Amino acid sequence: MNTKLPKFVLIGLMVIFMLPLKALAGEVEVLHWWTSGGEARSVAVLKDLLEKEGHTWKDFAVAGGGGDTAMTVLRSRAVSGNPPTAAQVKGPQIQQWGDEGVLTNLDDVAKAGSWDKLLPKVVADVMKYEGHYVAVPVNVHRINWMWANPAVFRKAGAEIPTTWEEFEVAAKKIQKAGFIPVAFGGQNWQEATVFESIVAGVGGSDFYRKTMIEANPTDLNSPTMIKCLKMFKNIKQYTDKNAPGRDWNLATAMVIKGEAAMQFMGDWAKGEFTAAGKTPGVDYVARPVPGTSEQFLFNIDSFIMFEVKDKSAKQAQKAMARLMLEPTFQEVFNVNKGSIPCRLGMSRVAFDDVALRSMNDFIASAATENLVPSMAHEMAVFPAVRGAIFDVVTNFYNSDMSAERAAKSLASEVAAAK
Ligand code: BGC
Repeated sequence: MNTKLPKFVLIGLMVIFMLPLKALAGEVEVLHWWTSGGEARSVAVLKDLLEKEGHTWKDFAVAGGGGDTAMTVLRSRAVSGNPPTAAQVKGPQIQQWGDEGVLTNLDDVAKAGSWDKLLPKVVADVMKYEGHYVAVPVNVHRINWMWANPAVFRKAGAEIPTTWEEFEVAAKKIQKAGFIPVAFGGQNWQEATVFESIVAGVGGSDFYRKTMIEANPTDLNSPTMIKCLKMFKNIKQYTDKNAPGRDWNLATAMVIKGEAAMQFMGDWAKGEFTAAGKTPGVDYVARPVPGTSEQFLFNIDSFIMFEVKDKSAKQAQKAMARLMLEPTFQEVFNVNKGSIPCRLGMSRVAFDDVALRSMNDFIASAATENLVPSMAHEMAVFPAVRGAIFDVVTNFYNSDMSAERAAKSLASEVAAAK
C-alpha cells in the first residue's frame, strides 16, 4: 500500500492539528513604565517567553520613573472601560483596584504553580484581594542603595562614605577635585526616594514606621523629622544645577561615565550599570545609603490582570501570570533588573555580589524588624497620603522653606489626606 499522502491532505491535516494551538494563542496588552536601558532589557524577557508560547505582546509603555504617569494613564483607560490586559501596579493600590471589581481571579494559576508555597507570606498577602490572587509579584527591589564610582573617589582622594559625617567630608573633596558629588534627579519621586532612606537611617526603623507607614502627625512634626529634613536638604549643595527634572537613569549615567561620584537610588539603577557592561566591585560599588546598613526598604513590582472576555486573551493572560513566577523568568529578569527574585528557593548562582548582599540583608533585616516597605514606591500608604508627603518634601527641597515649617506641613497635609 502506498503510505504517501497527497500534499493537499497533508497540509489539511497540519492545519487541523495546528488549530487548537492557534485558538489558544492570544494577545496581552501590558502597561508598564520600564523604559530605561536596563528596564527595557528586563521586560523583554517576559515578552520573549510569552511569544515563544505563541502569544502576542502589545507593549503599552508609559515613560516616567516611579510610575506615576503610568498610573494616571491606567486610570483613564480603565474609566473609559478599556483597560489593558495587565498592568504594573503595586502595594495598597492592588486593593483599590480589587475594590472596583475589575480584576481577574488568578487562583487557578496560583494553585497549579503552588504560589502559596513559593512566596513569602508577606509578599503573597499583598497580591491577594479578599483572599484571592489578583496580582503577580516579579521581584524585590531595595530602595536604600548608594551607587558609587570608585575611580572618582580615588581621583578626589576620598573614601566611599558609610555615615553622613563621612559623606560630608567626601563630598567636599569630590567637589574640590572638580566632580559632581551627587548625581541627582530633581523629580518628586526621586526626592522622596532619597528622603525616605534618610528618614530610615537618621530616625531608625521605628521612626520610619511611625512616619512613612502609619503617617502619625505627632511623629511627622517632631525634632527627629526636622533633623531628617535638614540632612536631606544638605545634599542639595553637592548636586549640579541641571538636576531639576533629570530622569533617574540619566543621573545613573553620570556615575557610570565618571562625571559624578555617587547616586542614591533603588537597585533598578544596577540594571543601568549591567546594561552598560559594568562590573560590581570593579567599575562601581554599591553600599547602603549612609546610616542604613541594617535596614532594607523594599518595593515589590507586580502586575494586576484585568477581566477579559475573549477566551484566547484569557489564555495569554494566564500564561503571563504563570511565566512570571517560573524560575527562568525570575532569574533572567532579576539579573537584568537589579532586583532579587520574590520566589523562595531560587538558585543563587547567576546573581552578583550586590544581589547576594540584598538576598542576605532581606532575611537579616526581617529578623531584626528593619525590613520596611517603601513609602515613595507605593508599598506603604495609600496614594493620597503619599501625594501629601511628596508635595511637602518637594516644596521643601525646592524652596527656602525651613525644616521646622516643612515638618509642621507634613503633619497637617498628611492628616488632611488621610
Ligand atoms: C519600580 C522599578 C522601576 C523604578 C524606576 C520603581 O518604582 O519599582 O521597577 O525601575 O520605579 O522607574
